[in-house]
Amino acid sequence: MSLRAVVRGVGHYLPERIVPNAEFEATLDTNDEWIRARSGIERRHFAAEGETTSTMATTAARAALKDADLEPSDIDAIVLATSTADLTFPSAATMVQADLGMDSGFAFDVQAVCAGFIYALSNANALIISGQAKRVLVIGAETFSRIMDWTDRSTCVLFGDGAGALVLEADEGAGTAADRGILSTDLHSDGRHKDLLYVDGGVSTGTTGYLRMQGNQVFRHAVEKLAATATKAMERAGVAPQDVDWIVPHQANIRIIQGTAKKLGLPMEKVVVTVQDHGNTSAASIPLALSVGRDRGQIQQGDLIVTEAIGGGLAWGAVVLRW
Ligand code: UT7
Repeated sequence: MSLRAVVRGVGHYLPERIVPNAEFEATLDTNDEWIRARSGIERRHFAAEGETTSTMATTAARAALKDADLEPSDIDAIVLATSTADLTFPSAATMVQADLGMDSGFAFDVQAVCAGFIYALSNANALIISGQAKRVLVIGAETFSRIMDWTDRSTCVLFGDGAGALVLEADEGAGTAADRGILSTDLHSDGRHKDLLYVDGGVSTGTTGYLRMQGNQVFRHAVEKLAATATKAMERAGVAPQDVDWIVPHQANIRIIQGTAKKLGLPMEKVVVTVQDHGNTSAASIPLALSVGRDRGQIQQGDLIVTEAIGGGLAWGAVVLRW
């Protein structure tokens, strides 16, 4: 027997305002065709004035709690993955804790940029299997629209805002790959690549700063590293690619998603794809895809899921779980 962190509920939130690619044509030397062909993105959501990472995270968390049929007081911990917290501190997670009306438990942010939700899942899993928490809200939430340089066509057309959340709950499993819950995790970072994707502001500059990315350089690392981490996580879980029901990848670029699936020997029919509707929502992209994939009827209880992401740092990793 072994303790497993099992998904009990899922939910998401997307801001009301949808921005199609064509809207950028008025202000930038770009077009719908280029954005679709190079990234697979067709539209994205942008937060309204007054909407923040923590407000979107709270709405997604409420949806996941409702789905789990639980109250905020049933939660022991909140782990929130974000690189766009409302303020430098306190954490967005503690803001969500307050907004949910929780007067117990503990909450903290995890910052691993686009790999943030993988890191958050891994942390939440460790809290559960070590007995420190029984139920954990794991959230990915971002407002990347607030760190865009709207004059830089190579970045500002790629990102979007949103939030997704899971409720993980401790449950006894047999200790085999047939168990529900998180079966394995695999994390990596390599700070030597920090200049490929970063924000040029922060405490050291006294500004919020803007996202800067050498997209084609990040792309070069992505497929190889994602396929390798997914393979490692599958080995650790004791499963093979043919056992997998769904790949739920970070949604940055359809060409990276296709390349990784091909390298893993899995057809695109087994991949949950939301990049066309959400753009790249960084740490929010995987929980958004899990929630939308469940709502579409793609992800069903008992399905074996491989989820993987890479982003600034570089930081990357994968999680294998049975829904
Ligand atoms: O989520 C975190 C991790 N991030 C990623 O995974 C992103 C990884 N990278 C990518 O997704 C792709 O590299 C991009 C979508 C960012 C770019 O696609 P690419 O095929 O690598 O294009 P490129 O950067 O090599 O640029 C090709 C051309 C350039 O023009 P020249 O130098 O060939 O004349 C760019 O200036 O496309 C130009 N370009 C654009 N043209 C029209 C760049 N942005 C645009 C644009 N519209 N928005």
